[in-house]
Amino acid sequence: MKAVRAIDKLTDTTSLEEQYQLATYKKMPVVAERGEGVWLYAGDGERYLDLYGGHAVCGTGHCHPHVVKAVREQTEKLLFYSNLVYSETRARAAERLVSVAPDLLSKAFFCNSGTEANENAMRMARFATGRENIITFAGGFHGRTADAISATFLGKYREIGKPNVPGHLKAEFGDIDSVAALADDSVAAIMLEPIQSMAGVKMAEPSFYRALRELCDERGIVLIYDEVQTGVGRTGDWFFAGSEASDGVVPDIVTLAKALGSGIPVGACLVTEAIASHIKENDLGTTFGGGMVAMAAVTATLEAIEGDRMLENVREVESYLRERLKEIEQVVNVHGRGFLLGLEFTDGAKTVHEGLLAQRIITGTSSDPKVLRLLPPLCLQRDQVDMMVDALRKMFA
Ligand SMILES: Cc1ncc(COP(=O)(O)O)c(C=O)c1O
Repeated sequence: MKAVRAIDKLTDTTSLEEQYQLATYKKMPVVAERGEGVWLYAGDGERYLDLYGGHAVCGTGHCHPHVVKAVREQTEKLLFYSNLVYSETRARAAERLVSVAPDLLSKAFFCNSGTEANENAMRMARFATGRENIITFAGGFHGRTADAISATFLGKYREIGKPNVPGHLKAEFGDIDSVAALADDSVAAIMLEPIQSMAGVKMAEPSFYRALRELCDERGIVLIYDEVQTGVGRTGDWFFAGSEASDGVVPDIVTLAKALGSGIPVGACLVTEAIASHIKENDLGTTFGGGMVAMAAVTATLEAIEGDRMLENVREVESYLRERLKEIEQVVNVHGRGFLLGLEFTDGAKTVHEGLLAQRIITGTSSDPKVLRLLPPLCLQRDQVDMMVDALRKMFA
């Protein structure tokens, strides 16, 4: 047996990860040790303001006490049993999730990640229509498993995912004519990130979502919102689906993951009765989906967002942030909604990302070299916005 070395120094963590993990992620020079709210504490004692929320996952903030308590209590009762038995924890999570969703979305399917939620959503659309093709958009990101990566017309992802699943068609985001031209009777679904995050936080006019809904209704196509990033409160609404920004449009399926379990891996599809009516026993399934620890985390996450009035906080702090950013002349535009924001700079966002990191503030880049992404926990406060603005000012001085 190979000897396992004790980690006794900070530098060991970096070198051990590099030695034993595949070098597939570009990492920041931070060794994460613990977190609290918007703060991430590193092994060297430094504290970071986390405006990236662990990749949009830590919506309730790091280690929200209500979520931690619920998860801890569940781990002491039952770690796991599959969907072959009923569970009150699972029943409550499904009920709670459906209760915060737009009325038409009345049933949940639980899985483990965003890509898996999208795979299942596309499969359900194919069941429901008896058709195969899927329209997605240039700039959209939907995950890295075979069907989801084939639906991802962003950068090199389809290339990485070769051979691609056939039947994926590309339309232009915000351009309804480009969608209508492809939407014939071979098309099962139109799937979109309602705000394209990785592409640089791109949003369409509300009329675009309305036009998509009408097109889908007219041609018998299933509309899927990939709300893996926009869902669970990030935009200041529970979901983009049904919101004002969506012109009230509710899709037939919403996919979720990231913030849904506050860091405990969980994904979900929310579907209408009409979609549900096409799903038969054994059509979908996954061993870990709906596991008790994840389900306890889902319920507690939704309760924490509601209990701490985080949706209201997102809307209020977003307007404050937008106001304060007007003071920074290098920020030429602020894209997005709520706490999914893209700050467009006159020059490279990567330099800004690095400059902020040097001042212990974590942000995200995007595939648009001018756009810096902010995906902070939904509990971010005004004084923390001030810290970021001061750091930007200092950097540009
Ligand atoms: C919009 C969107 N969809 C799907 C995914 C894939 O989610 P996961 O990484 O959980 O598979 C992501 C991940 O970043 C995403 O941002």
